[in-house]
Amino acid sequence: MTIRPETKADYRAVEELTREAFYNLYVPGCDEHYLCHILREHPDFMPELDYVAEADGRIVGSIMYSRSVLVADDGETVPIVSFGPVCVHPDHQRKGIGTALIGETRAMVEAMGFPAIVIYGDPHNYCKHGFRNGVDYRVSDMAGEHPLGLLVLELRPGFFGNEDWKAKQSDVFMFDPADALAFDEGFPPKEKKARYSQVLFGMLIRSFVRP
Ligand SMILES: CC(C)(COP(=O)(O)OP(=O)(O)OC[C@H]1O[C@@H](n2cnc3c(N)ncnc32)[C@H](O)[C@@H]1OP(=O)(O)O)[C@@H](O)C(=O)NCCC(=O)NCCS
Repeated sequence: MTIRPETKADYRAVEELTREAFYNLYVPGCDEHYLCHILREHPDFMPELDYVAEADGRIVGSIMYSRSVLVADDGETVPIVSFGPVCVHPDHQRKGIGTALIGETRAMVEAMGFPAIVIYGDPHNYCKHGFRNGVDYRVSDMAGEHPLGLLVLELRPGFFGNEDWKAKQSDVFMFDPADALAFDEGFPPKEKKARYSQVLFGMLIRSFVRP
């Protein structure tokens, strides 16, 4: 398995892989492959952190980053980064590929001098990589709340002191679901199914951590 930058020739394969990995996982169907598609054209996209994992000549994993910011109470803003979508093909999960994609790109982000990575995700997938809930670093969402899935990886030790921060994600995530649905029609038909993982996700996105 090798980890290398994504090229234009990989775009469709990455979108197909992303669709396979996310389909029916969090909602019936998925729109993460559409997110990959629009992110690459968005000003917040970070091509220097756009990586794939390849095994036996096939793309089996992908990670993409976008620019985001931390906003302090006094209005000061600090550029940070977020990743997502990140995925590994279902046939290749639980072999360390996701860990390698996150670990290798995280080292690049650190070398670029960013003080933190802030993401929204399932804590189960990320706490093992050192992420903690935003509440531990006084980082909230823009509404001042601490969603369970708002996760922070401090890269510059001690960066998060006694200040309160709000995390502002790229507006690339604010797409119209109807556009994602229309984009999905360009892929082979796939059955939408109910899964208990969707119920868990519904609970996750409605859960908040107390300061
Ligand atoms: C989340 C995701 C990217 C993780 O990728 P992955 O390649 O399976 O990740 P890893 O293999 O590094 O780690 C997954 C698990 O396998 C275990 N593992 C890693 N290598 C292993 C090996 N050789 N043998 C057995 N287990 C192994 C890890 O310890 C980890 O266990 P845990 O879940 O109990 O903590 C992948 O599951 C995925 O694409 N999911 C669907 C899309 C998604 O949810 N993306 C994230 C959005 S929040």
